[in-house]
Formats: sequence, structure tokens, C-alpha cells
Amino acid sequence: MSGKIRFVIIGTGNIANAYISAVENIRNAETVAFVSRTKKYPSQVTDSSKYEIAAELTDIKSEYEAVIICTPNGLHHISALEAARLGKHVLCEKPLDITIESTSSMIAACRSAKVKLAVAYQRRYSSDNPVIKKMLLEGKLGKVYSVDLSVKNYRDESYYSNAPYRGTYSIDGGGPFIQQAVHYIDLYAWYFGIPEKITSHLSKLHHNIEAEDYGIAICSHSNGMIGNIIASSAIKPGFPARMEIHTSKGTVIMENDIITLWSIEGIENPTQKSSLAQKHTGASNPFVNDTANHELIISDFIDSIKEDREPLINGESGEMATRIVLDIYRNNQTPF
Ligand SMILES: NC(=O)c1ccc[n+]([C@@H]2O[C@H](COP(=O)([O-])OP(=O)(O)OC[C@H]3O[C@@H](n4cnc5c(N)ncnc54)[C@H](OP(=O)(O)O)[C@@H]3O)[C@@H](O)[C@H]2O)c1
Repeated sequence: MSGKIRFVIIGTGNIANAYISAVENIRNAETVAFVSRTKKYPSQVTDSSKYEIAAELTDIKSEYEAVIICTPNGLHHISALEAARLGKHVLCEKPLDITIESTSSMIAACRSAKVKLAVAYQRRYSSDNPVIKKMLLEGKLGKVYSVDLSVKNYRDESYYSNAPYRGTYSIDGGGPFIQQAVHYIDLYAWYFGIPEKITSHLSKLHHNIEAEDYGIAICSHSNGMIGNIIASSAIKPGFPARMEIHTSKGTVIMENDIITLWSIEGIENPTQKSSLAQKHTGASNPFVNDTANHELIISDFIDSIKEDREPLINGESGEMATRIVLDIYRNNQTPF
């Protein structure tokens, strides 16, 4: 396939704005239309005459090749199944969806329609994360003993009250584990695989929402590794996401995707970018201001269409984090 890939963005809220900028920055990509039940353009659109808008995907008249799904978490499958039925490729915001029934149906529908399905876990491309992945694959970090992942964010009351679906089980899928920490749970799964057993303690401490706003999960892996994951949207003022990896050769500590401590026997720190440590932070606000990693996701998605190959983060790969989060919710020892 040659020429531009034309996108319809479904959902016109917060993250849709990031996609407008990201698509504009890519040579062979163009946004042609939006889908919004209320026919509301994303706030960043200054010239609405450039784009078609419709309440339903099936009402879009413009020609397009792919959709970008930016609706709430538990609605992703509805748009993905519809797009697949129309023969359109699907780039889906994280998480893929909030149940395995939904994620499986999305993967199956896109496969049988022979359209691509990619998931926007953009942190896999962020800063030092690809380097850590490569070193883990090559066994350079030694045997991984334990991993402490801490995603202590703060979201103020307006974050939940402005969009009452947030923090609900039926539409959002839960609280900070499925919404904020899922980016890092995806990284955890990409690096270390899916745990064999998970036990969790979840609580609602600060926000008037249905789901948790604080929790701890302990993950045991078949190779003996133990992981411990903290997720919250109630910790003021919000802290950089932190991952401590302890191995037979030493320790690596990462904050906001940057190596901040490197102590691995016999190997120098492969990157030295600590001055960028504050660049990618969602610790205290939900907005994505730096779209560079979304641009990488979109570019790879376009290449996967043109080269007829799998996207780097395909449906199966993007489903891993949902599996882990659902296990965390299912195995909560302290119902609230
Ligand atoms: N990758 C990242 O870093 C990142 C960052 C933020 C968010 N996200 C993801 O992006 C997705 C959207 O998040 P957001 O923050 O952009 O959400 P948002 O600001 O609340 O926008 C959601 C959009 O979905 C539409 N929508 C359709 N059905 C809806 C329903 N039943 N209830 C509420 N809205 C509905 C709304 O427009 P209409 O009501 O007009 O249809 C709205 O424009 C989520 O899956 C989230 O996890 C990813």
C-alpha cells in the first residue's frame, strides 16, 4: 500500500488531542475525521472545517484506512469490532480493553478481517526502556531476583468528577492499576513475563470512586522471581514511576523510564540520560504533552500496514497488561 494512511479518531477527549499533534508530525499520515457521540471536536482543533465529524463510525463518509480508538477503556472493543467489520486497521489506546472476553474478541476480529491491531503502550519506546529490554533478552543483567515497581500518582478530584465514568468497574475497568499503572505493568510484562501467581491488597483511601485508589500486588513467577507493584492515584504530590530491578549481578533503578542508578557487575551504564529524568511524567497530571513516543507507535503501525507485518505491540502483546491487572483485581485479599 502506498500513499498516506488516513485516520478517523474515535473519542475526542484528552488523548485525542495528543493524536492530532502526533499524526500532524508524521509525513505519511493524516487525520480526516472524528467520531464523538456529542459531535464535539477535540479542544485542540482550531479549524473544524478541515475534518468530518459524526456520532457513529458507520456515518463517516470520508475515505480512510485506519481508526485510532480514544474512548474510555471498556468501550475499546466496540469500536475495534466495528472497524474490523468495515475492513479498517485499528490502533487502540491502552489498555486494550478491560476483560479477556473483549480483548480476545478484538484480536480475533482483526485477524479474521486481515486488518492490523496495535496497542498504544508508548512507554516501551520511552528513554532507556528499549535498552533494558535488549539487555534482559541477551541475559546481560543476570538472573532477575526481584522487581519493585511503584506508580504513586496523584489525581485531583476534578479528574474523576469531570468524567464520572473514571474509576468505575463497568467502563474504566477499575482504578489506578488499570488506568495509570497499566503502562508500567505493560513494561513489567514485556520485561519479565506474566506472573504465575498474584496476591493483592487494594483500598480506597482518598477518592469518592467505585474502584481502588491505592493497592499493592505481590507477583510470583515460575522462575522464582518475586515482583511487587504499588499503584495509586491518591499520593500527593505524585512521584516519578520507579522500577527497581535486583539481579544476580546487581541493581538497576529507573525513574520515569530513565536509569537513575546502575550497579551491574562488569557492565557500564549503557545510557547516561539522567538529566532528562523529569521529561515523561504523568505523576500529577493526565495530559500527554510530549507526543514523541506516540509518533513512534503511529509510525510503526503505518509501517506494519504498508509492509503487511505485525505491529511491534500487537493485540496479544498489548493484552498481557490487562491479564495481570485482572489477576490483581481478582485476587484482592482486602475487599473494601
Ligand atoms: N497513552 C496514554 O498515555 C494515555 C493518556 C490518557 C488516556 N489514555 C487512554 O485514552 C482513552 C481515552 O482517555 P481520555 O483521557 O482521552 O478520556 P476522555 O477525555 O474522557 O475522552 C473520552 C472520549 O470518549 C467519548 N465517549 C464515547 N462513549 C463514551 C462514554 N460512554 N462515556 C464517556 N465518554 C465516551 C467521549 O466523547 P463523546 O461523549 O462525545 O462520544 C470523549 O471524547 C482511555 O482508554 C485512556 O486509558 C491514554
